[in-house]
Amino acid sequence: MAYTIGVPKETVSGERLVALTPEVVLRLAKAGATINIESGAGSSAHYSDAEYEKVGGTITSRESALASDIVVKVQPPSDDEIALLKQNGAYIGFLSPLDRPQVSAALALRGTTALSMEMVPRISRAQKMDALSALSSIGGYRAVLEAATKLPKFFPLLTTAAGTVRPSNVLILGAGVAGLQAIATARRLGAKVSAYDIRDAVKEEVQSLGARFVELEIEAQDSSDSGGYAKALMEEKAKQQVELLIPTIAKSDVVISTALIPGRKAPLLISEAAVKAMADGSVIVDMAASNGGNCELTEPGQTVVRHGVTIMGGTNLPADMPVHASQLYARTLLAMLQDFTDENGFAPNEEDEVFVGSCVTRGGEVVHERVKSLLNQA
Ligand code: NAI
Repeated sequence: MAYTIGVPKETVSGERLVALTPEVVLRLAKAGATINIESGAGSSAHYSDAEYEKVGGTITSRESALASDIVVKVQPPSDDEIALLKQNGAYIGFLSPLDRPQVSAALALRGTTALSMEMVPRISRAQKMDALSALSSIGGYRAVLEAATKLPKFFPLLTTAAGTVRPSNVLILGAGVAGLQAIATARRLGAKVSAYDIRDAVKEEVQSLGARFVELEIEAQDSSDSGGYAKALMEEKAKQQVELLIPTIAKSDVVISTALIPGRKAPLLISEAAVKAMADGSVIVDMAASNGGNCELTEPGQTVVRHGVTIMGGTNLPADMPVHASQLYARTLLAMLQDFTDENGFAPNEEDEVFVGSCVTRGGEVVHERVKSLLNQA
């Protein structure tokens, strides 16, 4: 029995990605699925209806895309979209379940089995499904390019007939997926790069990319937890960290900040005093903007100039690279679909670690413990 997979057009302002690209539609169609793509769903990512049709996709209305057996999307579904989902169908996409638990509650009411791409466990078997990492890497790359175009200076050392220009100093705060890509990108552009992270474990990775690892004189502690994420610094240590970072920030032409512990507000690392200490014309790209920001003066979604420093708080940097961002995202969805479907449609192994980790709603209920407890608190 053939089953349907729906790809609605994204409607959130500024979102240019599409959940499935023609490359992935071809693979799914060959496996026997009917792919219902809302007309124009791929246009902002430069994938035309004709390209989807050529690989076996079916161009349909919004309603029929949303009424498919399995719906895949980029942005969390709106109430209107949830109302159009097939009762007891399946949904795979970003759901921001810890920031917006009410979306999960609405999906549960609809009987939807919803898998959250944010909740895919960071284990080796699930690497091919790790959409967050794929997009963080794109974000880290893009953040450096944005900074480079705003900075009134060269990144590389330049020897010209008129003399030598010294390379810019770029500081990366948080050397996770986005941070490491930012280091590599800034290095490729020729900047002198330093990076700081509370996890000492990343020191070697930072150095292997040609950057200096910044060490602060705060009491040493092992900050790795079992999920590979850093634990929060104690409050007073966090304050110490902010103070100790000021001299390094002051010497930087560009700061790209990516520090975050999943499910928490982003740690404050760049105080107003640190911004004031930077040279006029310097640039900060605060990638943690949507989680409250690493910089005290960040305005999410805005670019502002404070004390002569441009502070960029873009919350969706991958949207400016929609071709590759969609391509990588679609491949992570393909990996999920391949693992959780059989020839008749959605058929996950309920004990699978990735399924258990990412499933937020099932059988009319919110089943994810963290999301459930957030809803109970509300
Ligand atoms: P990640 O978890 O791989 O890396 C975060 C790093 O921050 C970790 O290495 C962690 O140890 C470090 N960290 C945490 N607290 C710290 C502290 N107090 N001081 C120094 N380092 C600290 O996360 P990933 O995937 O690299 O994402 C980073 C951020 O970028 C997230 O906030 C994510 O939401 C954001 N992001 C933003 C985008 C945008 O368009 N603005 C696009 C993609 C990601």
